[in-house]
Amino acid sequence: MMKLVIAADHGAFELKESIKKHLDEKGVTYEDCGCYSKESVDYPRFAYQAASKVAKGEADFGIICCTTGLGVSMAANKVKGVRAAVCTNEMLAEMTRRHNNANVICMGQNVVTPQLANKMVDIFLSTEFEGGRHQRRVDLLTAIENGEEI
Ligand code: RB5
Repeated sequence: MMKLVIAADHGAFELKESIKKHLDEKGVTYEDCGCYSKESVDYPRFAYQAASKVAKGEADFGIICCTTGLGVSMAANKVKGVRAAVCTNEMLAEMTRRHNNANVICMGQNVVTPQLANKMVDIFLSTEFEGGRHQRRVDLLTAIENGEEI
């Protein structure tokens, strides 16, 4: 069964809870890496908690949210092995799986509606990576991450 982690800072606590409810209704299990209230926290810590589980193979995919989606995506993308994409519409959620083999989707509570977030999560989790020429490009992302000249 697919393993999923979810995390957010205070700026997206409500969005995280709403996505969790959606996943619960679908019977999809996940690990909640916090935060656990609307009290102000530092987004890199929560992005790291979820992203590092994806990097270690403890989770297949991560859903990480903040007010904008931007800060958590920056934090997550600094974890080796993570390909995090900020998504703001259904097409992006689909294409970042098909072409980028993204393993983390980032969203902003002040950017997307809860309904759109749920739809993007469904698309992200059900879309396969196309491989082929896109594998070569994803391999180049890994090379950059490893400090190689490309
Ligand atoms: C927190 O105020 C806010 O900066 C954070 O949620 C996020 O949007 C950062 O990029």
